[in-house]
Amino acid sequence: MVEVVFTDAAGESSIACPGKPGDALADLCDDHEAPIPFACRGASCGACLVVVDDPHYLLSDPEVDERDFLAGRNLSAPHRLTCQARLKTRLPEVQAHSTSVQLHVRVS
Ligand code: FES
Repeated sequence: MVEVVFTDAAGESSIACPGKPGDALADLCDDHEAPIPFACRGASCGACLVVVDDPHYLLSDPEVDERDFLAGRNLSAPHRLTCQARLKTRLPEVQAHSTSVQLHVRVS
């Protein structure tokens, strides 16, 4: 399990959500009322743009729509779109059996 910590733009509000392999970050936000804004949910508006600590370690690689959005704004890791990002379906071995690892996601 991974504890995903979502923090708002001001750094004043955050919430920790338990995530499992393959979970969509947007679903975690919806289930736990995380302080991440959404609008289109389709990789076009950028409302859900976040900065992620170590995005390659626990998140799946961006799909084409997200890659296009980020490239169009000259952004790359650690930026991600919360409406598109998912936890990897196969977490690194040490994380798959730990409840202590955290993934920090904050509004960009
Ligand atoms: S909500 Fe519009 S890009 Fe994610």
